[in-house]
Amino acid sequence: MKSNVVLIGFMGTGKTTVGKILADKLGKEFLEMDKIIEKKANKSIPEIFSEDGEIKFRELEMEVAKELSGKKDSVIAAGGGVVLNKLNIDYLKRTAEIILLKATPKDIYDRISLDGKEKRPLLNNEDPMGEIKKLLEFRKPFYEMATNTSVSTHNKTLRKITEEIITIITF
Ligand code: S3P
Repeated sequence: MKSNVVLIGFMGTGKTTVGKILADKLGKEFLEMDKIIEKKANKSIPEIFSEDGEIKFRELEMEVAKELSGKKDSVIAAGGGVVLNKLNIDYLKRTAEIILLKATPKDIYDRISLDGKEKRPLLNNEDPMGEIKKLLEFRKPFYEMATNTSVSTHNKTLRKITEEIITIITF
């Protein structure tokens, strides 16, 4: 078994919340790609998008994916767009089991509304639900190409979700 676990999935599918609990249960370190990117850039994700643009953000994301492939015993919450660049997944797969978290557009909308949509530059517009559906449709093949292991988070407790992930990675 590879010693890292990477949680991928669309924004609001629960990567961070689930990742923290999973790391705790597995006795591994929890790491969040977005937080590492923010530290590197010395600014928030919305600031990187508005001041430097999405391309700069994707460059930083790729650097971080490469660096994280050198880690051991970590649970890593990836950013929702990590799958758009196959190199990111190739790096992460070297040392990690990749698990895709899934949720319905409504789940995603509700969770993002709770967090505040200004935290997600890609959904910070007039029609976040329309944007969620459009982006989900576009990204579906990218998520499916990245891994064939997925867990739905719809209507499930955190305990159930983490148990399902542990069953998958220990088999
Ligand atoms: C993005 C998802 C975000 C963050 C950035 C871009 C995406 O992370 O990396 O806003 O392209 O889906 P979360 O999935 O943690 O919200």
